[in-house]
Order: sequence, then structure tokens, then C-alpha cells
Amino acid sequence: MNKTFWKEAVVYQIYPRSYQDSNGDGIGDLRGIISRLDYLQKLGVDVVWLSPVYKSPNDDNGYDISDYEDIMDEFGTLRDWEELLAGMHERGIKLMMDLVINHSSDEHAWFLESRSSKDNPYRDYYIWRPGGPEGTLPNNWSSIFSGPAWELDEATGEYYLHLFSRKQPDLNWENPELREALYKMITFWLDKGVDGLRMDVINMISKVDGLPSAHSEGLAPGELAGGGEYYMNGPRVHEYLHEMNQQVLSKYNIMTVGETPGATVEDAIAYTDEDREELQMVFQFEHMDVDSGPGGKWDVTPWSLTQLRDILHKWQIGLAEKGWNSLYLNNHDQPRMVSRFGNDGQYRVISAKMLATLLHTLKGTPYIYQGEEIGMTNVKFPLLEDYQDIETHNMYREKVTDGGADHATILNAIHIKGRDNARTPMQWDASTNAGFTNGMPWLRLNPNYSDINVDQALADPDSIFYYYQKLIALRKQNPIMVYGEYELLLPEHEYIYAYTRTLEADKWLVLLNFSETPQSVDLSFELSKIAEIVIGNYGDQPVEPASLRPYEAIVYRLNR
Ligand code: NOJ
Repeated sequence: MNKTFWKEAVVYQIYPRSYQDSNGDGIGDLRGIISRLDYLQKLGVDVVWLSPVYKSPNDDNGYDISDYEDIMDEFGTLRDWEELLAGMHERGIKLMMDLVINHSSDEHAWFLESRSSKDNPYRDYYIWRPGGPEGTLPNNWSSIFSGPAWELDEATGEYYLHLFSRKQPDLNWENPELREALYKMITFWLDKGVDGLRMDVINMISKVDGLPSAHSEGLAPGELAGGGEYYMNGPRVHEYLHEMNQQVLSKYNIMTVGETPGATVEDAIAYTDEDREELQMVFQFEHMDVDSGPGGKWDVTPWSLTQLRDILHKWQIGLAEKGWNSLYLNNHDQPRMVSRFGNDGQYRVISAKMLATLLHTLKGTPYIYQGEEIGMTNVKFPLLEDYQDIETHNMYREKVTDGGADHATILNAIHIKGRDNARTPMQWDASTNAGFTNGMPWLRLNPNYSDINVDQALADPDSIFYYYQKLIALRKQNPIMVYGEYELLLPEHEYIYAYTRTLEADKWLVLLNFSETPQSVDLSFELSKIAEIVIGNYGDQPVEPASLRPYEAIVYRLNR
């Protein structure tokens, strides 16, 4: 397996709107991030992935871009961005930008041209279709943010496709001129010294010819259906990614990760096999669906370690020879990992460290989401108005306001699954607004900031922060964490995830207890070979190897 910087790296994701405000407008910004670079250096991360900072009307917090080559007013200027990049590079940190090229904002100059007339040269940059007879939609696809995926534009009497909000029209990748324009824009950033790209829903850029309606058996006339099978991992996606790789990406020494909802292991191999020259890794979503019922994301369902482990194991084995895994348990679209997969009450600190051990000892590149390193938790705002996320509001309108679903049930689902769980401002200290802003924060803070904050974490040698710092440092000293072969143990255990990593003469045993009760470890052969403890979340307290305490994580080096 080739050794590369992006396999060895630990990535830290910043959602700029919620990280640090520097000018009192209640919105995080680039100068705010600049003021926190020493903190990131102290943590030891190699790469920062910055969620979008480009000009945007913020219908979807920057994932709707109106100018790809300039910075959003609220976040600062191109100059600030250049200073941020320089500040990162001075500290040995690389910068990964977010590339949102499945769609743009409806306020992008291309779309303004495109919608202006049917024969405008930019018309074909987007996906326009006439309606059906009697004013029906071009097809029955629903938008991922609720409602139809089509919007009628009065000026020309045609509909445009938007897989996300109506302010996020899909770009037409079939058009070679559009692709050229995007490659030129990407080159603009890479020439400025950007070190990596995270590509938003990149597996949705190729739609099946004819945009067929999704299967409608059992649906009432006019009822919408998902349609994902016609736009996820579509017919020309590999051709486009290979082209982008050859024309742009391969000319730079950069890191790439594609966001690919619905991708299978086979799809992921096709995207990330180095010989195919497309991407380096993808964010797969299977483990993010482990607590979703048949009704989808908002149909909250209990999950079990058996299910979670089966998924993670499948991906470990599936990408062992070809391709590469990204390792994440949360990001700006997902609930907080300690609330979802650990225990955010009595065992918050211990379980956050256990999950961190998992992320850093599986094979792949770990991604830390801001605040994870101090164990930030989900939030339960009592009022819908406290939420800002478009996905949440659209879903509520569809299900409760229009659909008659029970308010309390849906609010509960928002508490468990809503994206604003991850977006509450970063908790720096116990002062007003957690040191995030002097103004009125754009989204309410999690009230637990008086206890859970960076100041507290830095003052406590046993904090989650220092545990992450140690894991990251261990990765630098131990290539086994990056390149070691993964092998599952105790495949049937209800509560323990156990595996080994092996690299040449080195062998590690990882034991993780996913429950709040002690669990016995039936591994006498392996346990008889313990040479030393590499890291454990109960610190240096004496251990009884054949038993794991609640949420205990322990990594042993074994004699071979
Ligand atoms: C995925 C992004 O991560 C999410 O935040 C965004 O809403 C959609 N793509 C649309 O860009």
C-alpha cells in the first residue's frame, strides 16, 4: 500500500459560522478562526476542512454559493482568507476547502443568466424541463429538503431541478462548458495553495438520461418519491471524476474526499481505487443510517453495537486492498457523536474517549468535528423557532404543518437527529455566549457551555482534549495505526467491539465497551500476550484485562 500524507493525516472540520466570531455580529468568521490557530496546533491536527466560506445568500449556510471565487461578507475577505492559509501553513497545518459543485445558489450569475431566457448561452448550465400536461411536474422526485425537486420559473415557463432547496439549482454536468468553468474555478483555489478538497454530494452530479420518475407503485397520483436511484452514483459520475482528476487534481499534491450518500463498498472502491485516478476517499453513510427506520432519517429507531460494528467491519474489510476509508462519527449534518453513540450523561467523558479510540484505531483517515474534542453534546431547544436549519424547518412544515403529524414526536426527532445539534456555537469558555461572540449568536448556544468548554478542558489533564492530543501524537509515532491490517475479534459480542491491527512485527489489540455495564472479555489467548498498554480511557488505574469497565477503551501492544 502506497504511503501518502492523506492516509497519515488527522483532519479537523470547522463550520465557520459557529466557530469564533471576531467582530460581534454573532456569526463566526475567518479572523475568528485565525485567532484559534494556536489551539488547533496544540491539538495536533494535520489538516483543517473548512465548510464553505464562499459568497452565499445562506439559504443553506454557505452550501448555496453565489460566487465561487470570493468570500462571504459575514466571514471576511479574500485577504483574510489568505492570512488564514498562511497562518495554517506556518503551523504545519494544511487547508482543505469545501467544493460544492453539484449545485450553485440561484443567485449565482450563471443561474441569473440561465433563467433569463431559453436561448441564453448559460441556459444549459442547469437542468431545465417543461412541465407535463395539466401542469404536472417533470417527474416525481422529491427534494432532499422536502417538497418537489422542481421549481417552476415564471419567466420561461419551465422547471429547474433542485435536489436540495429551491435556492440550490443543480448544475448540468452533461455540459462540457460547465465542467470547464468548474475546473477553472478549482484551479483558481489550488493555485492559491489549497491543500485539499472535500466534495459535497459529489456522487449526485450525473443523472440518469431522461430523468425517469421513481417507482410509484402504492403512491397516490401526484405523490412524490425519492428518486435517488436515478441520481446517486449515476451513469457518468466516474467519467466526470476521472476527467476532473486528469485535468486539474492530479497536477497538485492534494487530498480529496467525496461526500457520497448511498454509496456501497463497491461504489467506494470505484471512487477511491488509486489506479482509477478519481478521488482518494469518500464519506460513506451506512453507519449514519443505523438509527433510521423505514421512514428514513426522522424515523428514529434504536441501534445496536452489532449493527454498527457489522457496518464498520464491512467497510474495513471492503477497502482493505483497494481504496481508503474516511473515519467519522459526526459532522455539521449529524447529531453529536457522544449523544448518539456514547452516553452524554454520567459517562460523557469516558464514552467520548472510547469513541475517539475507535476513530483513531480503525484503518482510515480520522475526521474530528469541531467541539468533538471537548465532548460537546446534542441540544434540546424547546421551540421550533430556536432552530435555524432549513432541513429541519422544511421537514417540520411537511410533516406537521401540512401533514398533521404530532408536534411532540417531530420535535423529539429534531432533538435526536437535527443538524443544529452540531451547529450550536463552539464552547470556548464559561463567559457569556461561551466566548463565541460579544453579540447576539446566530444560533442559540447549548446551555451546558458553563461546564463543557475549551477552558475547562485545557485546565484538566484528564480531559477529552488531551486524550485526542495523545491519540493524534500516537499516530505520528506508530505507522501501525495508519497502515496496520485490521482483523475482527469477538464478532458476536453484544457490547464489545474488539479487533487487532498488525504491521510487520507490531500487533495491537483494541477493546471497546459500548455499554454502561462491565463486560467480560473472552480472549484468553490474546490477553496472555499483553506486552503493554498503549492507551486507555481510564488512565493509569490498574486494569483487569479480562473485564472492561463501563465504556472502557483500551489498546494493548501484544507480544508476537
Ligand atoms: C451536504 C452538506 O454537507 C450539507 O450541509 C448540505 O446541506 C447539502 N450537502 C447540500 O449542499
